[in-house]
Amino acid sequence: MATAAATKVPATMRAVQYNACGGGAAGLKLVEVPVPAAKKNELLLKLEAASINPVDWKVQKGMLRPFLPRKLPFIPVTDVAGVVVDVGPGVDGFQAGDQVVAMLNSFYGGGLAEYAVASENLTVKRPPQVSAAEGAGLPIAAGTALQALRTIGAKFDGTGKPLNVLITAASGGVGLYAVQLAKLAGLHVTATCGARNVELVKSLGADEVLDYRTAEGASLQSPSGKKYDGVVHCAVGISWLTFEPVLANTGRVIDITPNFTAILKSALHKVTFASKRLVPLLLSPNKADLEFLVGLLKDGKMKTLIDSRFPLSEASKAWGKSIEGHATGKIIVQMEG
Ligand SMILES: NC(=O)c1ccc[n+]([C@@H]2O[C@H](COP(=O)([O-])OP(=O)(O)OC[C@H]3O[C@@H](n4cnc5c(N)ncnc54)[C@H](OP(=O)(O)O)[C@@H]3O)[C@@H](O)[C@H]2O)c1
Repeated sequence: MATAAATKVPATMRAVQYNACGGGAAGLKLVEVPVPAAKKNELLLKLEAASINPVDWKVQKGMLRPFLPRKLPFIPVTDVAGVVVDVGPGVDGFQAGDQVVAMLNSFYGGGLAEYAVASENLTVKRPPQVSAAEGAGLPIAAGTALQALRTIGAKFDGTGKPLNVLITAASGGVGLYAVQLAKLAGLHVTATCGARNVELVKSLGADEVLDYRTAEGASLQSPSGKKYDGVVHCAVGISWLTFEPVLANTGRVIDITPNFTAILKSALHKVTFASKRLVPLLLSPNKADLEFLVGLLKDGKMKTLIDSRFPLSEASKAWGKSIEGHATGKIIVQMEG
């Protein structure tokens, strides 16, 4: 194992974990545990920031059983930024001292801690222009926004068609990245969010913004009468009957939180060769997308909007805030301070 020249790694670290499923924010406990070691193709990171995603507390609720959590006690959270302090055998693209953004293995989590082990193939270098908090916001939220837009047909090299898209819950972690990415791809964006976030979402480039608590917002109809070629659907509880009339002939609703009914509906659309379709999407994490997204932050083409920041010792407050479901952008946990 290559050793970090000037970095002293302690034997133990502070971490936040839960011992059982259920329990919400009160179930998170600050503990002292051994610092993990980097194995083959892995990096040991000293974490600076982590971001919470709804999937993190959904796992704690037991919604992904029996697959997740893999074991208890469990240190949750996958989206992190920090600095490499050690590398395992086989790592050739990183060395101690590199600043990085990483998505940790969902099965093992580990992000609410002072140190964590990341796989080399889901870690990218973080240029000085990108802060740890901004970088930590990216992996799941921006990755999902990017893949949902690509599924609709968005292209980021200037060769795409000027599609009309609707982004629901545009003020959330995924939605705020989706609005910015859709504009970078040259799309016409209609967005839904609460009244307090309308101006923010417009300032990121959305062409039309609907307050989801009004009748117009609930109907999802574009004020200018446009039909949607695609929907990045980040909210929950909107039925196909609401989407169907506002879609263009071959419109697609990319549902990132599909329930059982949505999965059945999408299967039905597929077997009947329906022209308008519901398409469930689960993020497929990959290094190329993460590199692309970090590059956009570096070049100032996209930003991470931060809802709130909490120290590691108050990670349970960050957790509770995510469960409430009213964040505007990303909820960040910072390891120092
Ligand atoms: N499939 C995947 O791979 C994948 C990846 C990432 C996320 N997801 C899922 O996608 C969903 C969104 O994730 P997120 O990180 O963006 O969540 P989030 O940050 O917690 O979203 C919160 C935001 O959503 C807004 N909102 C809630 N209901 C709304 C509605 N009906 N219409 C418009 N806005 C609404 C809230 O606005 P107000 O405060 O005004 O209510 C708030 O600003 C979650 O269910 C998550 O689990 C799936």
